[in-house]
Amino acid sequence: MVYFIGIDSSTTATKALLMDADGQVVGMAARKYSYDTPKPLWSEQDPSLWWQATAESIRQVVRQSGVEAASIAGIGLTGQMHGLVLLNARGEVLRPAILWNDQRTARQCDEIRTRLGRERLIQITGNDALTGFTAPKIVWVQQHEPEIWARVRHILLPKDYVRYKLTGEFATDRAGGAGTLLFDLAKRDWSSEVLAALDIPTAYLPPTFEGTETTGRLTPHVAAELGLPAGVPVFGGGGDQAAAAVGTGAVRTGVISVSLGTSGVVFATTDAPFIEPQGRLHAFCHAVPGKWHLMGVMLSAAGSLRWYRDTFGAGMDFDVLLAPAADVPAGSDDLFFLPYLTGERTPHPDPLARGAFVGLTVRHGFAHFTRAVLEGVAFGLRDSFELMKEAGLDEVAQVRVTGGGAKSLLWRQILADVFGAEIVTVNTTEGAAYGAALLAATGAGIFDSVEAACDATIQVTGRVAPGPDQGAYARLYPLYRSLYPALKPAFHQMGALDAD
Ligand code: XUL
Repeated sequence: MVYFIGIDSSTTATKALLMDADGQVVGMAARKYSYDTPKPLWSEQDPSLWWQATAESIRQVVRQSGVEAASIAGIGLTGQMHGLVLLNARGEVLRPAILWNDQRTARQCDEIRTRLGRERLIQITGNDALTGFTAPKIVWVQQHEPEIWARVRHILLPKDYVRYKLTGEFATDRAGGAGTLLFDLAKRDWSSEVLAALDIPTAYLPPTFEGTETTGRLTPHVAAELGLPAGVPVFGGGGDQAAAAVGTGAVRTGVISVSLGTSGVVFATTDAPFIEPQGRLHAFCHAVPGKWHLMGVMLSAAGSLRWYRDTFGAGMDFDVLLAPAADVPAGSDDLFFLPYLTGERTPHPDPLARGAFVGLTVRHGFAHFTRAVLEGVAFGLRDSFELMKEAGLDEVAQVRVTGGGAKSLLWRQILADVFGAEIVTVNTTEGAAYGAALLAATGAGIFDSVEAACDATIQVTGRVAPGPDQGAYARLYPLYRSLYPALKPAFHQMGALDAD
């Protein structure tokens, strides 16, 4: 039997997952770390944390599993997207990485739109300039740290720094590359037009690969450090969202995946590059070779429910909290919750958006609030789903739901009713790291394709069909949609007060 390792370098931990050639997870190890906020809106991390955590987790997972190191046949990489890692000519880190959740670059986003023209930018990259993406971070360094910029010779994403340490090679996967805002989405490679407009030399960027392609091999020195054989291939892998989609089997058109984690993600695979004309959805390359995906990101999904529980039901188990909400009628007797507790990304790219309960009367009790939170998140996710349909994605065969929130049957039923689609759960729970291992196994020839790898390993474990409440939610959804535009001026005034 041969084995594969999936490495996920996330914002808070690096995880190493060991999978056998049948797709069974045989071990897992993780190392946590934190990130720094040296100034309000800033978010930075020392790249050496990812490398240390990777090396320690690989050693631990192999040791604990008892698997022969010689039987490790490949490594797949995934991790936080969009982060900016800058290296000098000797491959040394020049400054802390600027992360995806850093918000310092609003001005640079405006400047990028002006330099390229917003329409042209969206036409080439599939995306509008958002503070989270990599390109505005590069422009920020050019403008604010010219002495650093002068020494830059290599620009990498976080996962690709780990790749560089493992293999000595500069390379990135196309799902990650597309998240930089420097990609020509249709060509699946760097856009010379965008790079020229932003004064970024093409030579600073690594060659790009599909998720199943070999990007390099473990160097003898690193292999000895990790206790693995030299020459183990390291495959492209993918940005965390695309790899998580592989890990849940969302690899074909018509299968939508909804992740109910702290943030909420609606993800749809496409066979051609689809673009939402105003750039309200992210349009990236998939980790599946030759495929693309559309994605909506809600910043506080299960995070809203956690905030609500911690604030109003401290100490309550989620089961106990949610049980009475099942007896509240659909629509919570017209109590609405807007889930913009940490601003929003899709469909309102607005850092000043705020959460709200709207429609409160004396009839409403605790269970109404609870249900309104579940419904508000479901409506917010439907917003992304509607944008996908507007962008031309009308075939929906199945919605797969994952993440902590997917454990609640009540929430899954509300999602089925709000989406008007069957909601299914699957057997895999390890998301991105599992997807990275499947990409490696496919690259090594264990499976004929990523789709075949998913078919062989991922099974549906539960199904919830839309029920009688579907009609009520269809009537209430337009009312939900009217609330953000009505409240936006007030949210922005509050933001201005905060800035004083
Ligand atoms: C995707 C995104 C996050 C980060 C952090 O667009 O911003 O998923 O990759 O995990």
